[in-house]
Amino acid sequence: MLRVRGSYAFGILFRDIPEKLYAVRKDSPLIVGKGKTGTLIASDVPAILSETRTVCYLDNMEIAELSADEIHFFNIDQEELEKKETLITWDAQAAEKGGYAHFMLKEIHEQPKAVQDTLTVYLHDNQIDFSESGLSDALLKKLERIYFVACGSAYHVGAAGKYILEELTGIPVEVDLASEFRYRNPKLLKDSLVVIISQSGETADSLAALRLAKERGLPVLGIVNVIGSSIARESDYVLYTYAGPEISVATTKAYSAQLAVVYLLGIRCALVRGAINENRCSALVSSVKQLPQQIAKALEDPERIQWFASKYINAKDVFFIGRGLDYAIGLEGSLKMKEISYIHSEAYAAGELKHGTISLIENGTLVIGLLSQPQLYEKTMSNLMETKSRGAYLMGVTEEGNYSIEDTVDFAVYVPKTEPLFAASVEVIPLQLLGYYLSVSRGLDVDKPRNLAKSVTVE
Ligand code: AGP
Repeated sequence: MLRVRGSYAFGILFRDIPEKLYAVRKDSPLIVGKGKTGTLIASDVPAILSETRTVCYLDNMEIAELSADEIHFFNIDQEELEKKETLITWDAQAAEKGGYAHFMLKEIHEQPKAVQDTLTVYLHDNQIDFSESGLSDALLKKLERIYFVACGSAYHVGAAGKYILEELTGIPVEVDLASEFRYRNPKLLKDSLVVIISQSGETADSLAALRLAKERGLPVLGIVNVIGSSIARESDYVLYTYAGPEISVATTKAYSAQLAVVYLLGIRCALVRGAINENRCSALVSSVKQLPQQIAKALEDPERIQWFASKYINAKDVFFIGRGLDYAIGLEGSLKMKEISYIHSEAYAAGELKHGTISLIENGTLVIGLLSQPQLYEKTMSNLMETKSRGAYLMGVTEEGNYSIEDTVDFAVYVPKTEPLFAASVEVIPLQLLGYYLSVSRGLDVDKPRNLAKSVTVE
């Protein structure tokens, strides 16, 4: 193990010790459990949930020795270890499709519950309570900077978090792709917090970024969906999301639950720093508490999106444009489309189009405008008109009541009106559905898209 490079998870048998199985891992996930028929190793909980719901998570440079009915743990010096057991509370049913055609559709429709279950853990009598995590008000008070570091959709949560937390707290917020952060020798301010966002808690780049932040002496907060995962165990503080097991490779409910935690983090941080008063805080908290039913409302008419998707199954290039938070939402809408329908798309800051990319707009190009930010609405509308005058077909996503977009866009989608800072939670819903129905219409493997893994545990 001292000589092996790279990430791995091994189950090892020795010819001359037939009654033992040894398990070791480095960075790749590996769990150990004792079931009805014997002891087991697996990479993730759903694989062994039918056998046991009590598991141990092996750490790097540890050895698990399994016999038919016993498990022993050792460190690299072969000293026996006591490992904490984790009780898995969600049921095997949660890891099934529940009557939906795909896990992704089920998880899209589970988002109201995922957000509600996550909020319930941290909201007690309308007060935001992070005490379980150990993340103290004192730490939040003295922050000079916040660094969001993640990959993929989790990075898009950080991109949204930048706009939200800077607006609420006044603290400068940086957002980094973990694969860049880990190699760019980041200059980090001392009184800062590095926030690693990860559904799986096993993403190699995000785990490496966490370790770099800790090497630099900075506290790390993990926003993670898998209890006991590597990122959760190595973070100084963890704010779990309670989205339940997410099976589909394309994340939806975990993304939404992560957003909810970011909202609460921003509100709590702003309150303890005096950036907002109690009234503003309770208004924001009540806006957050409405999100589950607003998400449910945004899910009420999937057939309309399904109809629209059927018109674009042969699309070549799609553009998602928006400003501010809408740009961050567009990033997630674009990734959903690319990763499950294989249609190339790009999210673009609407104000940046004229600096080159608008040359790609041709007759019939689908341009999706995100219009959730009142103060930026007119600007984005004029950007949409610029693309329309070059032949683009416009889809607009905005809040109910903002019907003036019908004068410009060709296909309007309305979502419930929320506090603008929290609009991503509802604006993303039609974009998730669009990606899903495009993939289904193209006859693709929605839950297991080509070339992708649910958890990218390698570089
Ligand atoms: C999202 O739909 C993708 N499957 C992918 O971008 C994912 O968000 C990324 O790999 C990060 O995964 P994590 O949240 O488990 O760290």
